[in-house]
Amino acid sequence: MRIKVFTLFPEMLRPMLGESILGRAIAAGHLQVELIDIREYSTDKHRNTDDYPFGGGAGMVMSAQPIVDAFAANLPGDFRGKRIYLSPRGRTLTQKVVEELAREEALVLLCGHYEGVDQRALDTVIDEELSIGDYVLTGGELGALVVIDAVSRLIPGVLGSDESSEDESFTTGLLEYPQYTRPADFRGQKVPEVLLGGNHADIVAWRREQALELTLERRPELLETAPLTDADRDMLDRLKRAREIEAATPGLLRQGLQAADAFPKAWFAAFVPEENRKAARKQCFSGRRHVGWLWQAFSMGFIPDFAEGEGALERWRANPPESCWLYLPGERLLYRVDGAFEPPLESFILADEALTRTLVGTGKPGKGPYGVEST
Ligand SMILES: C[S@@+](CC[C@H](N)C(=O)[O-])C[C@H]1O[C@@H](n2cnc3c(N)ncnc32)[C@H](O)[C@@H]1O
Repeated sequence: MRIKVFTLFPEMLRPMLGESILGRAIAAGHLQVELIDIREYSTDKHRNTDDYPFGGGAGMVMSAQPIVDAFAANLPGDFRGKRIYLSPRGRTLTQKVVEELAREEALVLLCGHYEGVDQRALDTVIDEELSIGDYVLTGGELGALVVIDAVSRLIPGVLGSDESSEDESFTTGLLEYPQYTRPADFRGQKVPEVLLGGNHADIVAWRREQALELTLERRPELLETAPLTDADRDMLDRLKRAREIEAATPGLLRQGLQAADAFPKAWFAAFVPEENRKAARKQCFSGRRHVGWLWQAFSMGFIPDFAEGEGALERWRANPPESCWLYLPGERLLYRVDGAFEPPLESFILADEALTRTLVGTGKPGKGPYGVEST
């Protein structure tokens, strides 16, 4: 890709073009960026490039002559590529626009300054105006760098591997899931368990769910055009339902999730029989937040005492908890169970077949918390 930048301040761009991924892409020849100093084409005896606006008003306007002549001197007659003026009035740059630009043979970027550019220059040499966002910069140079940077990432060979740009925010139509690197425990903040488990399918499911949730939370309008599967839509319905519950009973969901996060594996091992744990792994369904198969299989909040393991069930019976949270994915509902589990917890569990199969599937008394409960 060849990019020509027409600017009054080429030195503003140069440092960025010499560093990191852009610098390497240019050095390797994946990208050619030429900086053209508009001032050199001014025919004014003081090499002026701007003048007062006709009709009055604040500031200066870049004159047509140096710009039109700079274009004529630097673009061949058969130039094929897009000629862009960076401007807050332009079409807003999005990843879709970036993808469109990356398909061009060449790009020309004109950077304005002061109050902007004489309209006649734009009418003569520009195909399109492009804005990098709804705010006003002092000049188009930063905008040009943004375009160069975003476009260059899509040029084959610029990123380490061609896959690196595939999963990004917007490329999938969604915002990207959270990323983590070592250490697994940073000052007490742990990496979600699912990412450490090495189960690729679980990791893909978790990332998809996170991407859907983040997009729903921050940029719901993207979901209208994102390519979604039926499973995505189911997940979104669940997430929306969870949000409705949260809105109706503030804090409930968060408390439930915190309780589930605090839920130790030891408790699970103590109360859920081995065959059920295996089934849980296989049949894992996703909760609002995914902390590995444990959470998937058992998206429930428990009182801390009950979660302590050994002897907890007896303590729980002797001193029934005031409430607990129960998430039933099949029904897409999070229940708050108040009082001493009347009706018994069992009836809530049986309301959802998937959960029943996963957790009380053996039906053998004495196995698992609900088996015990029903004897
Ligand atoms: C102060 S601005 C001029 C703004 C102009 N008077 C207007 O209101 O549209 C100077 C230059 O910065 C660049 N610029 C400012 N905001 C921009 C944006 N959001 N996107 C791209 N370029 C921008 C343009 O090249 C513009 O000519």
